[in-house]
Amino acid sequence: MSAAIEKSSAPLARAIDLTAKYGERTILDGVSLDIKKGEILCILGGSGCGKTTLLKHYIGLLKPSSGSIEMFGKDWWGQDEPERELAQQKIGVLFQAGALLGSKTLATNVAIPLEMHTNLPDIVIERIVRLKLHQVDLDDAINRLPSELSGGMRKRAALARAIVLDPDLLFCDEPSAGLDPPTSQALDKLLLSLREGLGITIVVVTHEIASIKRIADRIAFLDKGKLIYEGPLQKALDEGVKPVVEFFGAEDKLKGGEKEFKPFKV
Ligand SMILES: Nc1ncnc2c1ncn2[C@@H]1O[C@H](COP(=O)(O)OP(=O)(O)O)[C@@H](O)[C@H]1O
Ligand SMILES: [Mg+2]
Repeated sequence: MSAAIEKSSAPLARAIDLTAKYGERTILDGVSLDIKKGEILCILGGSGCGKTTLLKHYIGLLKPSSGSIEMFGKDWWGQDEPERELAQQKIGVLFQAGALLGSKTLATNVAIPLEMHTNLPDIVIERIVRLKLHQVDLDDAINRLPSELSGGMRKRAALARAIVLDPDLLFCDEPSAGLDPPTSQALDKLLLSLREGLGITIVVVTHEIASIKRIADRIAFLDKGKLIYEGPLQKALDEGVKPVVEFFGAEDKLKGGEKEFKPFKV
C-alpha cells in the first residue's frame, strides 16, 4: 500500500447509506463507502451491478434516492450551486467512452476544461496542455486528431483532459475496457504514476482482474445492490469472502489461472 495514503485524515468523499433507484427499481441499497485521501480504490462487481451508478452519485451527476454523498467534507446536495461547481472542478472523470471531440486536435480537446472554467491567457493554457500531454506521454501527438490515434493513446488523451484542472480526485469508469493487455498494463502504470507523482486519489470502476491486482490498494465489491466487502483484495481472498473469491476464481479459470498476487511497482 502506498505511503501516500493518509490513514488519519478525513475521507475525501463518502457514500452514506446510499440508496439509488431508477424508477421503482433499486440499484444500490444502503451503500456506505469512504474514499480515502491518496488511495487507489477499485469498485468492482458483475456487469450491471451498479458500479457506474455509484460513480455517478459520487461525481454529483445523480441525486441519491435516500442517504447522502459527501464530497470534500460537504453534502453534495446540501450546498448551493456555486459551491457545487467549485467542488466539481476538483474532480476529474474519465468516462467509459472517452468522449474526445473527433473534429478537434488533442490540444483543443485537452484545453476544454481550462477554457470553460478559467480565465487563463492562451499562452498559459497552451503550456498546461503541453505539460498534461507530457504527463501521459503524448508529447508528439498534440496536433493530432483522435482518429489518428490508437485506442490506448485516445484513452491517455482523455486522461490528460480529466487531469488538466489538477483534480484532487479522479474517477475512471472501466478505463481498460477494449484495450489489449499490454496497453491496459501501460495505462495502469500511468494511473500509479499520477497517484505517486501528483498525489491524486483515484477511484477506478472496473471488472478487469489483472488491473485490480496491479493497482488497487483497496477494493469495494458490489453484489445485488449491496456493498458486500471493502478492504484489501488479499484480505478478502485470505478470509474467503465468497462472492469475491468466486469472482476472482472464475476470471482466473477463464484466463488459465493467475493465482499469484503480485503488486505492480512503477
Ligand atoms: N439511466 C438508467 N435508467 C434505467 N436503468 C438504468 C439506467 N442506467 C443504468 N440502469 C440499470 O441499472 C443497473 C446498473 O447499471 P450500472 O450502474 O451501469 O451497472 P455497471 O456499471 O455495474 O455495469 C443495470 O441493470 C442497468 O441496466
Ligand atoms: Mg458501468
